[in-house]
Formats: sequence, structure tokens, C-alpha cells
Amino acid sequence: MKKYKVVLLSGDGIGPEISEVSKKILKKVSRKYSFEIEINEQLFGGIAYEKKGFPAPEETLDQCKISDAVLLACVGDIKYDSLPRELRPESGLLKLRSALNLFANIRPVKIRKSLIGSSTLKKEIVENVDLVVVRELIGGIYFGNPRGHITNTKVPKAFNTMVYDASEIERITNIAIKIANQRNKKICSVDKSNVLEVSQLWRDTVSNITSKDKNLSFSNMYVDNAAMQLVRDPSQFDVILTSNLFGDILSDLAAMLTGSIGMLPSASLNNNGPGVFEPVHGSAPDIAGKNIANPIAMLLSASMMLKIGLNESEAAENIENAIDRVLSRGFRTADLNNGSCQILSCSEIGEKIINEI
Ligand code: IPM
Ligand code: MN
Repeated sequence: MKKYKVVLLSGDGIGPEISEVSKKILKKVSRKYSFEIEINEQLFGGIAYEKKGFPAPEETLDQCKISDAVLLACVGDIKYDSLPRELRPESGLLKLRSALNLFANIRPVKIRKSLIGSSTLKKEIVENVDLVVVRELIGGIYFGNPRGHITNTKVPKAFNTMVYDASEIERITNIAIKIANQRNKKICSVDKSNVLEVSQLWRDTVSNITSKDKNLSFSNMYVDNAAMQLVRDPSQFDVILTSNLFGDILSDLAAMLTGSIGMLPSASLNNNGPGVFEPVHGSAPDIAGKNIANPIAMLLSASMMLKIGLNESEAAENIENAIDRVLSRGFRTADLNNGSCQILSCSEIGEKIINEI
């Protein structure tokens, strides 16, 4: 029997609640499709800081490196906001991304049929949404140097550096091309080259590579226009290729097209080695421990892990179909309440989905 080693990082806030549901579904689906998943739980985020003094302890990073895939819930809490930056949960996440060289972040944004009425946007605008944000994840302004505070000036100053070299742009472009070729062969690269030199290099490099693939339909868009177009006519997009910061912002925006950020999964990948699969949403400390969180984004992340990380496509599809069946019967968590559905708790909707496996 095939056996996979998966590191589970349940992290902070609603993380442990949604992880419970994910563990159960992985157990059930692996039994059904005759493979074994060994789940190795490790400390990560604020909880790791509290127990080990660091948000991304060495032991955790080492276990992730020797795994077949990493399933991550979410990290962060306002109570850590006053810690030095390098000890904050978010810094742990950035450290994990760079330690595993996860330069490609894939965020599929697809509206599920039964949720078309749940978006804050009109039905006609969102009903055909099916796009993927391909976000560069370990470069740009998130990691650029120099960075810091200047305190010996009259007025305090702080600064960051948005920097890319052409090789970083090339490798993420090649991932976007690969994904576009499995879809509608359409890439829109998003930048701010009317103002930023780093974006000019981005645009020139991406255009140069994509022009060699004659099957692709390729366009460039400024990020401010892209934000507007995502709300005006989101179904014009197939693959959106963009840098770290712009991808962070646009993927939250795109999430709302699907009804709730509680629905969006993501995969962070390297060309080889384990990927990290995690929901796009945060740790929602305000609702933590109340058993009302939406576990679906993490379940869809587990499904992406099965498909991309472990090559178990049938099991992955089974999870997706189970989710769709439960949603189509009108069951929802509170974030998707439209007044005419039955609201269930996190564990209850989890049970319903698991029963469909
Ligand atoms: C995300 C998150 C992270 C990011 C934070 C938590 C560091 O917002 O994955 O989108 O900015 O990348
Ligand atoms: Mn984000």
C-alpha cells in the first residue's frame, strides 16, 4: 500500500478546529482509495512561539523538508502584534515559504454553483468565474533588502525594497505558462510598470518568455486596473500572473467573488520537494474556539494536496464532490449565511461532508 508522510501545522485561531475536520476526511478518503497517510503534527505560528520561543522552530522546518507534503491551517493573532517582527507568526510563515523554496503560490478562484447567490456581487458578474492567481511567493517587497526603520531623523522613517531579478520572474512565468496550457491558455500579467522599475523588468521578462509560446493569449495589466477589472468583469481572466505583494492583495479581492474567503484553497510549490497546502484565509481569532468557522477552504486545500502533492487525483475529486453535494443541499457555515440556508457548525458541516466520501 502507498504511504505518504504529511506534516500537519494546525497553527493558531480557528486552525485546530478546521484541522480536526481535515484529519478526519484524510483518514476516510485514504481508506476508501487504499493508501495510507501518516499525519505528523508539528508546532507552528503563535503556538510554536509560546511553546518553543520561535514561530517556525527548526524541528518543524526539518520535518516539513522530509515530508511528502505539508498541510497548513492558519497562523496569527492580534496578541502577537507587539512582538519583535521576527517572532511574529506571520514571520514564521514567510520563513517556512523560503526554507522550502516555495516560489509559486497557486490560488484557484472558482465559484461553486450552489454559492452563486452568496457573493456580494451580482449573479451575472460572478457566475462564470474560474481563474487562477499565480503569485510569486519568496521575492519582491516581502523579502527585499535593505529594509528597516530609521530612528535618528526628526520624523521617524521606515522603508522596504521591492526587488526582483530576471531569473525569479522567469521561473514563476514558466509555472504560469504550464498552468495556462492545462486551462484556457490565457495569461494576464499584472504589474505597475507605469511607475516602478521593478515592474518594468517584470513586464519585459514575462513578455519575452510568453511571446515564444504561440498557443498562448497573453496580456499585461496595471495592478490598479486589474483590481477594477476583477470586480467589473472577473470572467475575462484565466491565469493572473503577478508578484508577491500584488498577488496577496488581488487574491483576497478575488476570494470575495466566490462568496467567502472561507472557500479558497492554495498551493505553494517548488519545482521539486514538498509543497505547502493552505487556505487563503487567516486565523480569525475573533471566532476561534466557537466551532463556527468554515472548514471548506482547508478541505479544498487538502484536496489540492492529494491532487498536486501526492498524485491521488481520484481521492481529491471525491472531496470536492462531497463538498458540492453538501452545499447543494443548502447546508452552510455562518460566513455564507444568505438567510435561506441551514447554518451548521464547523464540526457539523465537516461530518456532513465526511459522510459523503
Ligand atoms: C497570505 C497571507 C500572508 C501573506 C501573511 C499572513 C503573511 O496574507 O498568505 O496571503 O501576506 O502572504
Ligand atoms: Mn493574504
